[in-house]
Amino acid sequence: MPACATGSTRGADTVVMFLATSPHLFPVICEQLGAAGLNTPRIRVVLEKPLGHDLASAQQINRIVASVFREDQAFRIDHYLGKPAVQNLSALRFGNALFEPLWRRECIANIQITLAEGIGVGTRGDFYDRTGALRDMIQNHALQLLTMIAMEPPPSSDADAIRDEKLKVLKSLKPFTPQSVARDVVRGQYKAGTIDGKAVRGYLDEAKVPPDSRCETFVALRTEVQNWRWASVPFYLRTGKRLAEREAHIVVNFREVPHPIFPGANRANQLVIKLQPEDGLELHLMAAKGSGPSELLAPVSLDLDFDKAFASERVGGYERLLLDAIAGRLNLFVRSDEQEQAWRWVEPVLDAWARDPNGPRPYAAGSWGPAASSALVARDGCTWAEEQ
Ligand code: BG6
Repeated sequence: MPACATGSTRGADTVVMFLATSPHLFPVICEQLGAAGLNTPRIRVVLEKPLGHDLASAQQINRIVASVFREDQAFRIDHYLGKPAVQNLSALRFGNALFEPLWRRECIANIQITLAEGIGVGTRGDFYDRTGALRDMIQNHALQLLTMIAMEPPPSSDADAIRDEKLKVLKSLKPFTPQSVARDVVRGQYKAGTIDGKAVRGYLDEAKVPPDSRCETFVALRTEVQNWRWASVPFYLRTGKRLAEREAHIVVNFREVPHPIFPGANRANQLVIKLQPEDGLELHLMAAKGSGPSELLAPVSLDLDFDKAFASERVGGYERLLLDAIAGRLNLFVRSDEQEQAWRWVEPVLDAWARDPNGPRPYAAGSWGPAASSALVARDGCTWAEEQ
């Protein structure tokens, strides 16, 4: 529903309109706001996801919004960008000198982004069935995280300096072909299973879901960022409903030491960026257990809990985004060209699925998705975090 807030910047009142409506209403609302003269520079519009259903509908919305408002008056929400843990990604990379020299293909073997949910589709069956996990979570949240992990250091913290770099990452993503969709993308749909000891129904038995639906509730995919920094480093993205746990994290797997001199197991270093439910960092290292020539290495980890460290200063994701919209800070909002490029990248997957006679692979509620998801990473000699 549209809502309105006022605030004051540099002495002039600012009006923020929050459009949390079905996307097909964005154009008419914006046109009418324009017709009523409610598009002066003091007016801002916040556009809530979903921002279109595909590239063409996103472009149409953007065209009409742009005919009424300047780009810097349009605040496209991706609520993941409001999460403190996600803002911490920029702090980690660009507020510390430690990681940046290692943040490249020479030192990193692969990167995994997991956005796992325990919940099912609940009462949103009709919306979800027209949407699916690729549009609902990958096109926006997972790709935004990927851009923040893979982007070059921006020259400043200006919104456009950051968004220019994120756009470059989206433009560098390896395009999908029908062959690579078949090889590198796994889609699944949950069947009945058990979560937290309780039996839960399968997707096809959810309210407002057609009994023959081919909608995916799980996606795992492998991609690459085709530039000098990341050439041939696999980026794995994974999301799903009714998975074993609600857990969002990014795992950066470093390469193994080039010449191991200690006997026994040598595990490669790993940085786990925990996004939710905890907000923290784990750095997995090797340490000597004993002393002397036969000393054996053992894995140890440095564990930082940001919720605990900054509890009193944290605001919720939406609160942060709305405060930023009132203050006119665009850093955590998605620019139209970023959003369209993300659609451009996912569309070949949607097209290939539409032509594929096989539907999504079944997986039991409470599992980590179809077995093909593990096989996808195993092909490169990797495992998902929970399999380690
Ligand atoms: C929304 C999706 O964008 O994100 C939902 O439409 C999903 O399907 C939600 O459940 C997940 O958000 P969070 O913050 O709970 O991870």
